[in-house]
Parts: sequence; C-alpha cells; structure tokens
Amino acid sequence: MQNDLELKIDELLSRMTLREKVGQLVQVSAPIDGAGKERLKNRVRNGSVGSVILAFSSTAGNDAQRDTEVEVYNELQRVAVEESRMGIPVIFGRDVIHGHRTVMPIPLASAGSFNPELVEECYTCVAKEAANDGVQWAFSPMVDVCHDPRWGRIIEGPGEDPYLASVMSRAIVKGFQGEDYSQKDRIAACVKHYLGYGASEGGRDYHRTELSDYSLYNLILPPFRAAVDAGVATVMSSFNDINGQPVTSSKKYLTDILRGYLGFNGFVVSDWAALANLRRQGVAETEAECAAMALRAGLDMDMVDDYYFNHLAALVNSGEVPEALVDNAVRNVLRVKLSKGLFENPYTRKGEYDRGQHLRKAYELAAESMVLLKNDNHILPLAKTAKIALAGPLKQERRALLGSWVLDGKEEETQHFYEALQNALGGCEGTVICNTDDLADDAAEKVFAQSDVIVLALGESHLVSGERHSLADIALTEHQVSLARRAHNTGKPVIGVVFCGRPLALQIAEPYLDAILCAWHCGSETAAVAADLLLGDLVPSGKTAITFLKTTGHIPLYYNATSGALANNGYYGQHPEDCYLDIPAQPMYPFGYGLSYTRFTCSPIHCEKTDMTWQELKAGACFRLSVTLCNTGAYDGKETVQLYIRDKVASVMRPIRELKAFQKVFLSAGDHCRIDFSVGYDQLGFYRENGEYVVEPGAFEIYIGDNCLTDNCLSIQINP
Ligand code: GLC
Repeated sequence: MQNDLELKIDELLSRMTLREKVGQLVQVSAPIDGAGKERLKNRVRNGSVGSVILAFSSTAGNDAQRDTEVEVYNELQRVAVEESRMGIPVIFGRDVIHGHRTVMPIPLASAGSFNPELVEECYTCVAKEAANDGVQWAFSPMVDVCHDPRWGRIIEGPGEDPYLASVMSRAIVKGFQGEDYSQKDRIAACVKHYLGYGASEGGRDYHRTELSDYSLYNLILPPFRAAVDAGVATVMSSFNDINGQPVTSSKKYLTDILRGYLGFNGFVVSDWAALANLRRQGVAETEAECAAMALRAGLDMDMVDDYYFNHLAALVNSGEVPEALVDNAVRNVLRVKLSKGLFENPYTRKGEYDRGQHLRKAYELAAESMVLLKNDNHILPLAKTAKIALAGPLKQERRALLGSWVLDGKEEETQHFYEALQNALGGCEGTVICNTDDLADDAAEKVFAQSDVIVLALGESHLVSGERHSLADIALTEHQVSLARRAHNTGKPVIGVVFCGRPLALQIAEPYLDAILCAWHCGSETAAVAADLLLGDLVPSGKTAITFLKTTGHIPLYYNATSGALANNGYYGQHPEDCYLDIPAQPMYPFGYGLSYTRFTCSPIHCEKTDMTWQELKAGACFRLSVTLCNTGAYDGKETVQLYIRDKVASVMRPIRELKAFQKVFLSAGDHCRIDFSVGYDQLGFYRENGEYVVEPGAFEIYIGDNCLTDNCLSIQINP
C-alpha cells in the first residue's frame, strides 16, 4: 500500500513543472466575494494552489468567519481536478478546534474529563459534521503544554502534564482520522503548534521561548510524539522561536527532531504568514530569504503569505535552492492528499448526521469535564424545591459558554444558564429568580431576600481567552468579588458557578462561596450540564488538568516541578513561606483535583514484588500494583484514580511527581472495586538532553490517589 502511494507520487512528480510543484506548497485563504472567487479559480486553474484555508483572517478564533460554503469549495475543486493540467485536488482546511456545529468543551476542560475514549467519540462526531460541510482537514489538536494561565491560548490545549496531553492528543487524532482518514466522515488532523508555543515568555502571545532540550524532550514533545504515533496527517509549525531560533526556519526542530527522531512522514504547514515573521524576528532580510530558510528547514506548505508562490521557482532556477527540496515537500503534501483519498473523492456530497446524538455526546463530555472545586457542608446538590436567586455577569450569556475558537457553533442555538436552570426545575416546586441588574445594590438585595440559596454565574467572556487574548491578571474581577461578598453577607448559602477558559485565581472570592463549580466554557451543552450538576441530575467527576493558582503572582506554579535546592517546594507544602512571604506558594486546587457528591476512599497500595533488576525491567517485567477503591457515599459516581511516580535519585533532577497512568471508574454507592496498574520500563524513565530515553536504577516512589498531592505511597527499587 505504502509503496503504491510512493509510486503514484513519483509518477505525478515526474510530470509536474516547477511552478506546479511550487503550487502544491501554497495555501491561500478562502474567497470572500465573487471577484475573489474568480481570482482564486484562475490560480487553481494554473496549478498555483495546493490548499485553501477556510478562513479569511489571521485570528479565526476571534473574528466571526463566513459559514462553510460546500458549493463554492466543490466549484473550486472542479477547476483543480478538471481544468488544471495536472488535475491534483486542493485540500480544504479549517480551524475545527473543539467542535463544528456542535461545540465540545474547550480542550483544557475535556482533558480534565480524564476520559480519552469519550473525547475520541466526541471528535468523531465533530469530524462527521465538518466533513459534511466540506472540511477535509482540521487544524487540531493543539497540544501545547502550558504552565502559564495568563496565556489566552491555554484554553486550546491539554493543560500542564505531558502524559495527559499525550493521551488526549492521541484521542483527538483518532477521533478526527479514525484508522483510515480517506473514509467518508473522517478528516485529516493537524497537531500544533510545533513547538514550544505554550512556553511563550510571560504568557504573552507570539513571544520568545526559552526551552532546554531536557524540558523539550520531557515536557513539550511527548504529545507530538503521541500524535505522530497515532498517524497524524499533518503538523503545524509555531510562530515562536526556541532559544533564539525561530521554529519556522529550524532544521533541528522541523526535520531532525520531527522526522528523524519522531518519524513523522506527513506534511508541515506553517502557521498564518509565519514565513513573513522571520523578517520581524530578525533572521531574514528579504522575502526570498524567508522562503529559502523555511524550505531548507523542512517547512512544506506556506500558509497565506505567498512567499513560496512568489520566490521558490526563482530560488530553484538560480541554483540557490535545490529542486530536490521542493520535490521532497511536494512528496509530503501529495502523500497526505493520496492518503485522504482526494484523487478518488475530491468533492463533498452533503449527507445527514444525527445532530441529537452529537449534542448528547457534547453533554456527556461537558458533564465529565466540569470540576467541583468546593462543596462545604455538602450544600450541593440543591433540592429541586429550592428558591434560587440567580445573579452574576454570565447568567444569561450564550456565546461565551461556547468558548474561544468556535467558527461554526451558533450563539442562538446555545442555552444560557438562567434558561437551563428554569428547564431543570421545570415541573418542580423550586423556582429561580434572576436578578436583572447586578450593578444596582438594591436590585440584587431584593432578589437575594426572596431566596433560600444564591447562585452566582461568574467567570470570563470567551473574548479574554484564545489567540492574542492574554491577561496580566487572572483573578476574578472586583465586581464579581463584591457580588460574592454581598451575597455572602445575606447569610444564605452561596454557590459560585465559574464559566471560564483559563483557571481563574479564585482566592479572594473563595471565602464568600460555599461551593464552587468550575463549568469552564464547555460548548453547546454548558448551561444544561451546569444546571443538572447543581440540581443533582448529574454527579461531578471532572478533574483539573491545570493547577488553579491563588494569585497571578504565583505563575508559574505547577505540579510536575523538581524540588528546590532546600526542599522548599510550596506546591507540596515544603516551606511555602520560603517561596513568597505575602502569599504562600501553594496551589488553590492542585493538578488532578476534583470533588464528587459521593465519597471515594482508596486503599494502601498493594504490590507483590517491590524490587527487580534493571535487566528484568528492560526485558519487560512490570511492577503489578493495585488498590481497592470504595464508594462510601450516597451517590453513584465516577472517580479518576491517578498513578504518579517519583524517581528519588537520578543523574538529573526529576519532578517530585509525574503522572504515568490513570483509570476512571464508575462505582455505585456502597460498592468497591480493585484497580490494577502495571508500571514498567516505559513508565519509569526520562529523556536525556539528546532525546535518549533511559531508566536509571535506584529507588522510586509510586503514588496512587485522587490528585497529585495524594500521600498514598509505596516505594519500589530497581537494582543495577
Ligand atoms: C492562527 C493560529 C493557528 C490557526 C491558524 C489558521 O494564527 O495560530 O492556531 O490554526 O492561524 O487560522
């Protein structure tokens, strides 16, 4: 099969002119009017376009985009297939980041579901909807591990842990592509942003990145490896530099590591006009230099700045750039187009799909992604006889709940929280009175006075997260804190429902809130799920895929850090006052944390054999560990049991905890089950600075529990 593909590529290449080859490396943005369409048709007709991005602005996540237009895409494709000399189809790509018409939770939330099977099912629904609208290629998953919630794009990614990021990266690639992305209802995926964009200095977008190879191989690269191992069709290179070397022009990252080390064999597309950035980054003077540098580095397709279109042929004809480099890039593009089946099925034939089933999947994933952060005196769930006063800036918000990076979700199809609460109470004795004006003190007081319990819809708009939307302060706004304070002063129970894209700093508001549900921006079903969780029709099971900090000033503070020289790692309670005198550096809510309405207990770790030789381990032997999980509460529910390791002594400093496995299980109230884990060579090692994976003999600690701070520990030993 693969050989046939390569033979077909050879045959095509042998017949292509240089200009036609360059055309395959050019991505242009979608036409926005008739004249634009005619101009684009002419370029397609003369073989100068390889791909069309179905967006017309560089921040498609922020600016409303045109709806998809299948008939326009088929019209353009017909020109490519039937009127161009080579008849090579174009490939249509779009930012299908976390949904299409049905919007799933933002990836930072769905990573916290710790349910990759469900994530894969949801992205299969997304692929079906997008493919039906003419999208053949999604610029997703975004897998940028990030420790800085000031960065607006943290919402698009998998949080702070490389293992969880890898599991979710694979799930989304498989959701989009299945086992064969040439199948109807499957689309090519694009893992991004390769590489290190999530470590942008200060959480400022597009800024410089300082990254050691040690961090690169152990923290940043794993989810890209997972995507490549899952067969991801394409990779998108990132805007940023790493240690002064722009990724766009780095052979080390785009060829040596991506292809030589990870074995990627699809194609690399630049981020929006990233070749042009090379001049701003001060490594190139002319457009032609940018084009030559990017191609030499291994960047196959140029997104929308036409530097390849305008300069590559001349660079080859002048001998500056070998044609073989162009051929190589064209091979990569043709390999994906052939694997997508575009030559056999270049056109989109709209069909039907079960939108109701997709919404049910979105509901399920939102239900497993929302995180119960606090529930004093088990105030939640509320009785359906309660008189609820509802206030807060997001109580009647629709668009925000979808989250950033939503091109095809419809605000008008999205319930707001007030409606959802009314629906959830429908037919019950309970009532919900919605405050009309949160700013007017007396209005709110009147509504509070008529209630048994106060629910505050807090958080942030989607417009302060996403691309180019970083925040210098991640605390809840003063207005929201004062509303919480006023509600608290009534002496009634106060529930905070936080609709957010990033883990907001809740320290100031927290004392005023008896319960806190982080509802995130969970897509189409956010409001319904938040209401059903509040009223006990659902039991929360989400966990935090990112640490919730007390204050912005603690950034970066994350669970998988190494110990300080004097063991003053506040995250783990080691002398937090040594870290900051004013606000001790402990997390507000740690990684992997989330409450339920029921109560789970985990037994001490059982392990038959706690030591073995390095040789035995290398030969495949594993430590067999187990715990007994009990549901001792009154509700059926799901718990995510997490396994962390600590390499106590190694040739380099190792993190105090590293997530290496997890299992999410359902248990009926009063029930219990045994949970087994295997820990072997693949879980106990790390990557050296040269990318070599090693396991060093010595003592390790294994932790198994319900978040990274669990003290349920067992020591194991690997003998030399
Ligand atoms: C944007 C983003 C990238 C997106 C691309 C196309 O600038 O960085 O994630 O896929 O351009 O819209």
